[in-house]
Amino acid sequence: MPVMLITGANRGIGLAVARVALARGWTVLGSMRREEDADRLAAELGPLFRPQLFDVADRDALAASAASSPQAIDVLLNNAGIIGPDGQDQSSLHMDFDGFLRTLEINTLAPLAVAQAFLPRLRKAAQPRILTISSQMSWMGYAKSDRVAYRASKAAVNKVMQCLATDLEPENIAVGLIDPGWVRTDMGGGEADLTAEEVASGIVGLIENFDITRTGRFFRWTGEAREF
Ligand SMILES: NC(=O)c1ccc[n+]([C@@H]2O[C@H](COP(=O)([O-])OP(=O)(O)OC[C@H]3O[C@@H](n4cnc5c(N)ncnc54)[C@H](OP(=O)(O)O)[C@@H]3O)[C@@H](O)[C@H]2O)c1
Repeated sequence: MPVMLITGANRGIGLAVARVALARGWTVLGSMRREEDADRLAAELGPLFRPQLFDVADRDALAASAASSPQAIDVLLNNAGIIGPDGQDQSSLHMDFDGFLRTLEINTLAPLAVAQAFLPRLRKAAQPRILTISSQMSWMGYAKSDRVAYRASKAAVNKVMQCLATDLEPENIAVGLIDPGWVRTDMGGGEADLTAEEVASGIVGLIENFDITRTGRFFRWTGEAREF
């Protein structure tokens, strides 16, 4: 049974992907920060859902979680993310710099730290894949200027993962990025045009069809490649 590690699996897109993956026969290692979420979701989602307790910014906790089992991991889905400081505090003319740093820590540095921590277990899989949820807000093709910290953190994670793809290609480990569209979650809000369920179904399909021949690319949730 293939194994997928999803960060931020307790709500939003991460939880929706976990549900779809479980229904399609994956074993899901779902990361979350709170024990009460772990207990609730373990009871609700059944024995193939295995909660992993860590904050993605806590590198000691990542190392401990990665070392807690020798089990191979087929797919890492870096999903956990934050939108950053309040909108009025993340413009290029008025910036909460501590909030900007925190946004980079969670959205840019943590996906790489999680990948590094779990790499030994990914290397044990027959067809290892690392996918990271980015955003259309990273796109360099238009100059909209709201949410600077969030946009910059996602543009930066695109570059980080492109570099990781290059470095892991000789080992046949595929690395890609996903634009999930605008999704109705706590982050996306009620006005968003997509449900987490439909996007999750697209993301799991994308993951299942993703391989080394398409490493280093950025995909829409529907599976088509898009420009950075
Ligand atoms: N919704 C959209 O329209 C949209 C669009 C483009 C991209 N995205 C991206 O999609 C991903 C999921 O977003 P979402 O809409 O599902 O957001 P969400 O509903 O706000 O969920 C965010 C998830 O990230 C987790 N998380 C945040 N900080 C964490 C940390 N330090 N350590 C561990 N987990 C942490 C949260 O856990 P807690 O409950 O512990 O906070 C939660 O599980 C994010 O990367 C986001 O940037 C979303």
